[in-house]
Amino acid sequence: MNIRPIIFITILLCTFSVQAESAKEFETQANAAIKEFAETLKSALMLSMQTDGSVKTIAVCKDIAPRVAEQVSTKYNLDVSRTALKIRNPENKPDEWEKTVLRSFEKRLEKGETIKKLSFSEQVETDGVKQWRMMKAIGTDLVCVTCHGEKIPEPIQAKLKKHYPDDQAKGFSVGSVRGAFTIKQIVPAD
Ligand code: HEC
Repeated sequence: MNIRPIIFITILLCTFSVQAESAKEFETQANAAIKEFAETLKSALMLSMQTDGSVKTIAVCKDIAPRVAEQVSTKYNLDVSRTALKIRNPENKPDEWEKTVLRSFEKRLEKGETIKKLSFSEQVETDGVKQWRMMKAIGTDLVCVTCHGEKIPEPIQAKLKKHYPDDQAKGFSVGSVRGAFTIKQIVPAD
């Protein structure tokens, strides 16, 4: 009996299952990181909106968001940030992969998927470096439209304009995709 094909298939299956295993591990870590980032940010936002008012809360989004992103990235050994098709801070600009995923989220939402389900991950190779990447959509809630909606109150508009002269993150309505969490992790070499 020729066992070569059997050995070949076994190796192939093992390779696939190792890949599936590492995909699953990445997704579990990425989802935990996103959950922690989202919850920390949302509670800081809500607390500040209630106690300091919306103008002062701009500082939460400006200073606390990047700080929390850094903390969570270190804790989970990932690169966590936020991006969107229409951005406020130019530092959050999406790359081509992110743009494609964000556009696919818009299409999926149109077709009836809920925002909570809008998530996508895959392994990507850029300039010879393999990375796991994941994005998860961020929906627009009522509290968000104060600073990202169609009718932003004047004092907020003035402060936003000062810090973000090229602000595009306006005109969003409740239930739309405001942006997404985006995660990267370099795949360790074998
Ligand atoms: C008090 C005003 C304010 C509120 C309320 C607010 N944001 Fe923002 N948002 C900002 C500011 C300011 C930035 C820019 C942060 C920075 O400099 O990185 C921002 C940035 C973002 C970004 C990063 C992408 C970009 O446009 O630069 C996302 C995503 C986002 N906000 C989503 C939300 C969501 C979702 C809510 C509601 C849960 C929300 N925001 C509520 C002011 C606000």
